[in-house]
Amino acid sequence: MREVRRLILDNASHGERTLMAARENHARSIESLVSLRLPPGWIVDVQLGHVDAVSWPHSTSSLTSGLKELVLTDSISSLHLVVLSFLSFSVAAQLIVTFSSLPEYQHIHIMAIESGLPSRYEIRVLESKHQDWASAIVMHSNIFHSPVWPVLYPEGLAERAYVGLSSAGYLVEHQISSGLSLGVFDKEYQFKNPESAATGGKLYWDSKDKGADGGKLLDQMDFPLVSVALAYDNFNHLDMEKMKPLLTTLPAFGPIYGVLAKFDKRDPAAWEAKGPGEVVMRNATSTRRDYEGKGIMKKLAHYMMRDVAAKGWRGIQIECFSDAVIHVWTNPPAPYRSEEVSQFHTWSYEEENEKGEMVHPFRPAKQRIVKVYCYLKE
Ligand SMILES: CC(C)(COP(=O)(O)OP(=O)(O)OC[C@H]1O[C@@H](n2cnc3c(N)ncnc32)[C@H](O)[C@@H]1OP(=O)(O)O)[C@@H](O)C(=O)NCCC(=O)NCCS
Repeated sequence: MREVRRLILDNASHGERTLMAARENHARSIESLVSLRLPPGWIVDVQLGHVDAVSWPHSTSSLTSGLKELVLTDSISSLHLVVLSFLSFSVAAQLIVTFSSLPEYQHIHIMAIESGLPSRYEIRVLESKHQDWASAIVMHSNIFHSPVWPVLYPEGLAERAYVGLSSAGYLVEHQISSGLSLGVFDKEYQFKNPESAATGGKLYWDSKDKGADGGKLLDQMDFPLVSVALAYDNFNHLDMEKMKPLLTTLPAFGPIYGVLAKFDKRDPAAWEAKGPGEVVMRNATSTRRDYEGKGIMKKLAHYMMRDVAAKGWRGIQIECFSDAVIHVWTNPPAPYRSEEVSQFHTWSYEEENEKGEMVHPFRPAKQRIVKVYCYLKE
C-alpha cells in the first residue's frame, strides 16, 4: 500500500519554521532530511514544487545535492526529486513524500533553517575545491587581523601567510572532508580580475612578493567565499604529526591549546564522542577583513548549531581567540546552552620555564582565550 503524505513548507521567513504534515514527532530540517534514517524498504518520493515567494537560505543546487545524498543512504530505497523550484528570497515548497508502507512514525516535521543573513549571502557546506580559499581566509584574517597572532608575530606577515596557506592544509582538508565545515558565499561578489570569473574565483597570492601588505593580499583573494566555520567530528581525531607544519608557522598555537587543556578539568568521558556523529569540534572561525562586522560569523555559528542539532549531534566544542567569537559561542540561541570549560588571559598567564623562572609566554598579546562547550541536547 502506498501512503502519500503532503508536506507544505510555506512562509519560512524568519528563524525556524516547523512545517508539518502527516504524522511524526521528529523536528527535521530539510538538510537533516538528508540524514533522516528511515526504516529499510521505505520508498520516499519527494516533490519540491514552487508555491509562492518564500525565504530560503539555500541555492537550488545545494538542496539538490543534499537530496542526492539522501538517495545514497542505505536506509532509503528510492527518492525521486520531481520538481525543484525555489525563487530568490522567499519560498514555499511542497514536498510529497510517498512511503512504500504505512510509516511507523506518526508525524513528519520539516524544519527550515534560516541563515538570518541578507539574501545576497548563502551558507554552503565547503567542498575540497574551496580548500585554498578557506585556507587563505583563515590565514589572512588570523595573521593580519587576530588580536593574538600579529601581536605575537608582527614581522614577515606576508611570508607567514604564504607558508600558512600550505601548513594549514591538513587542518583545513581534515575539516572540509568531514562535511561539517560551512562557508558563507557572497552571491553578489564582483570579481576584481576577469580571469577569476572563469573559475568562479581565484587566489592570486605570490609567495615571492614578501613585502605585500594585508590589503594587497586581501585584494588577491578574488573569490566569493567570505567567511568560514571549519569543523570536524570529535570521533575522527586530528593527526598531530600532520599538524606539525601549522604548529611551526604559529608556534604559540600548540602551547595555547596545551594551557586550555591543562585548565579543562572535565572528565573526558563526560563529553568526548564515543562514536561518530556526537560532538563537533570547531577549529578556525574567520571572516575576511572586508566583510567583518556584518554579523556573518554570528549567523553562521547559529546556523551550524541548529543544523547539527537537527542532525542529532549533542555538542560543539570551540576554542575562541577573539572577544566576538567568545561572545557568540557563550550566548547561543535557546534552547542551546554553553559553558566555558577552560580559559586564561594571554597577558596574565605565567608558567615556570626549564630554568625555574616565571615567564609570560603569550605576552604581549592581550586576549582572553576560552574553550567553550555548547550543549545541543541536555
Ligand atoms: C572574529 C571574526 C571571525 C568575527 O567575524 P565577523 O563576521 O566580523 O563577526 P560578527 O559580525 O558576526 O560578530 C558580531 C557579534 O560579535 C559581537 N562582538 C563584536 N566585537 C566584539 C567584542 N570586541 N567583544 C564582544 N563581542 C563582540 C557583536 O556585538 C555581535 O554580537 P551581537 O549581535 O550579539 O551583539 C573576524 O573578525 C575574524 O576573522 N577575525 C580575525 C581572525 C580571528 O580572530 N578569528 C577568531 C578565531 S577564534
